[in-house]
Amino acid sequence: MKKTIFTLAIATALMTTIIACSKEETKTTETPTATPTLYERVGGATMVNDPNNTGMMIEQGRLTLRAVVDSSILVIAADTQMTKFFPVLFAELGANNTTGLMALSKNFTDFMCFATGCKNASYLYTGMNMKDAHNPAKNNRMGVKASKADFDKFVGDIGIGLAKNGVTAANNEKLVNDLVALLYTTEADIVQQ
Ligand code: HEM
Repeated sequence: MKKTIFTLAIATALMTTIIACSKEETKTTETPTATPTLYERVGGATMVNDPNNTGMMIEQGRLTLRAVVDSSILVIAADTQMTKFFPVLFAELGANNTTGLMALSKNFTDFMCFATGCKNASYLYTGMNMKDAHNPAKNNRMGVKASKADFDKFVGDIGIGLAKNGVTAANNEKLVNDLVALLYTTEADIVQQ
């Protein structure tokens, strides 16, 4: 009987120690720091002067993405593989009408802001979904359906747009890779031939 009580006492003491130790482990576990979003990595919500609109402020993240979008549109416009996709836009520009260009710049920037994790409701994307926007039957501004090769070339042009803004694989490989990976999440909707 004495032996049983002694064994029980040791077992209880051991259990208490094990529980205490595991509690200690929980206590010392470090709080994980939140991984910054892509939007934060390109400048985030910090307000800065908008160089394109005197007296207006803009989030640094949006400013970066808008600059990349605008540079990329220029690269795409000069890329002969892209000409057939933008008949309406180019006709407008030929007639000195920049309305469509401004709308594309805004919509593409809004899209990139939200895709990268921007939370500012005033930058909400209100354009078409990616499938309809790139289907000539739903969007007459899209000349013809894009192939996988066209998609790859388009992303390559955005890569040049990024480089024009100082972001290259040589100086920020991870950011370039993460942005390109984000663009590729739209491939299944956009490549329609
Ligand atoms: C790489 C991923 C791409 C993204 C994130 C993207 C995003 C967008 C967005 C947000 C719009 C505006 C839609 C609207 O105004 O409702 C748009 C329009 C358009 N996209 Fe894309 N796009 C991509 C790839 C492509 C490719 C590969 C092509 C052609 C090869 C293409 C051709 C067009 C055309 C022609 C328009 C209409 C332009 C206009 O307003 O005249 N896009 N795209």
